[in-house]
Formats: sequence, structure tokens, C-alpha cells
Amino acid sequence: MAKHRRIRPLSDSILLEGRNVWTVNANPGVAIRGESLRKFRGVEHRRWDPNRSKLGAGLLRTRNEPSQLLPQPGSTVLYLGAGHGTTISHLHDHLCGSKNRFGGRLVAVDLAPRCLRDLTHLAEHRPGLVPVLGDARKFDAWGVLIPSRVNWLFQDVAQAGQVEIFLSAVRRFLSKDGIGLLSLKAASERHSEGGDEDIFAKAIAQLSSEVELLEHINLTGYEDQHALFVIRRR
Ligand SMILES: C[S@@+](CC[C@H](N)C(=O)[O-])C[C@H]1O[C@@H](n2cnc3c(N)ncnc32)[C@H](O)[C@@H]1O
Repeated sequence: MAKHRRIRPLSDSILLEGRNVWTVNANPGVAIRGESLRKFRGVEHRRWDPNRSKLGAGLLRTRNEPSQLLPQPGSTVLYLGAGHGTTISHLHDHLCGSKNRFGGRLVAVDLAPRCLRDLTHLAEHRPGLVPVLGDARKFDAWGVLIPSRVNWLFQDVAQAGQVEIFLSAVRRFLSKDGIGLLSLKAASERHSEGGDEDIFAKAIAQLSSEVELLEHINLTGYEDQHALFVIRRR
């Protein structure tokens, strides 16, 4: 007999079904990275793979209400280190929806031209997604695309100095009380005698000196050597 898992909505476009997260596909019929497509009440959803997305993993790992990790649908948000668009696509389902019916704007920055090519292709079918070829550290070059502060900012750049890059972006782009999420890859930082735990402890101290640290989510099991820090700007 089929096992029935509890289904609960996290937003108009996101469902939690047991340990699976699904988003309403804003581009029906198309899977981005071979993820499962499935209909719930006649509406096509895509499975958000937590092993390929730190935000997806964070939704399953957080000790708080998962929807608190997400931006308001229809808002403008900034995502640094967009990669090939795996997480971006699910975020777009939530923030913008099909034909951008929610009116959101997802500014997705990456410095790799190969990533930009994929993001640009994605944006052709996902209005509201704005791919930007740029360096998260040099926001004078692309910051004009964000004329007013955002309430939600995500960073996943996997390069040395992740906390400094994040705090600079928070200062420049995040509004007061806005939520920021930093995906920190320990292996990208300078080697520390104290190992990953020391790197995470230093990050906590650095973040806490400037912003309110709401949660430290350990992603081990989904993404080893990674943590997700959730902050609120004071
Ligand atoms: C781990 S991948 C991002 C994966 C993506 N966030 C996802 O969940 O689908 C890290 C990305 O950061 C980008 N990156 C590294 N340093 C950067 C920088 N200074 N500015 C912008 N992007 C950067 C890399 O090109 C790479 O695509």
C-alpha cells in the first residue's frame, strides 16, 4: 500500500511532503537538472533536491519554521553565487511563479561566464529572473540593478573571505530587519589548525559582532563542510 506522507504548504508555491520539498513549476514540463516532476491536485511540481541546494537542505534542517528562511513572494531579492541556477530555479518558482504572476525580481549574480549562459537560458522562460555577470566583491559594477534595499539576501560563493564578502553585501543592500543567509563552505577558507569547527566559530563571532545571528544550520549529510547562517540586519 502506498505510504501517505504529511503534506503541508510553506507558501503558495512550496510544499513539504514528509522529507521532500516541492515547488510549483513556473515553467511546466521542464525539469532543470533531471529532478522529479509530479502533480499535486493537478498542478505540476518539481522536487527540490536538498543534496544539490543548500537552501533546500536548510528548509529541511532548520529548527525554526522553514518558511522563515524564504523571501516574500513578489519581492526583490539578491542572490550572490547563483551557479548554474539549481537553487535559483526553485526560488523563482516561489518568488515569481509562472509568467511572474507574483511580480518578484530575483537578481542572480555570478562571476563565471558558463554559469551566466545557463542562467540566461533559464531567464528566457522565467520572467523576473535577472542574471548578472559580476563579482560579489565589486558591487559598484552591478549595484545599480538594485536601486533600493532588499529584504532578503543569499550568498553561496564558495571562495575565501566568504564572511567579509557577505557582511559588505549586507551593509550595502540589506534593509533593516532584512534576512540574510550565508552558505559557508569551510574548505574554501584558509586552513585552520582547529578545523572546520574553528572556521565556523570564527564566522559566528564575526557575524554576531555586526548582525543578529538567528540560526546556525549544520548541513553535514547534505553538503559536508558546509553551514548555513541565518541573520537579521539590526
Ligand atoms: C557552490 S556554487 C553556487 C551554487 C548555487 N548557489 C546553487 O545552489 O545552485 C558557487 C558559485 O559561486 C560563484 N562565485 C565564486 N566567487 C564569486 C564571486 N566573488 N562573485 C560572484 N560569484 C562567485 C562561482 O562561479 C560558482 O558558480
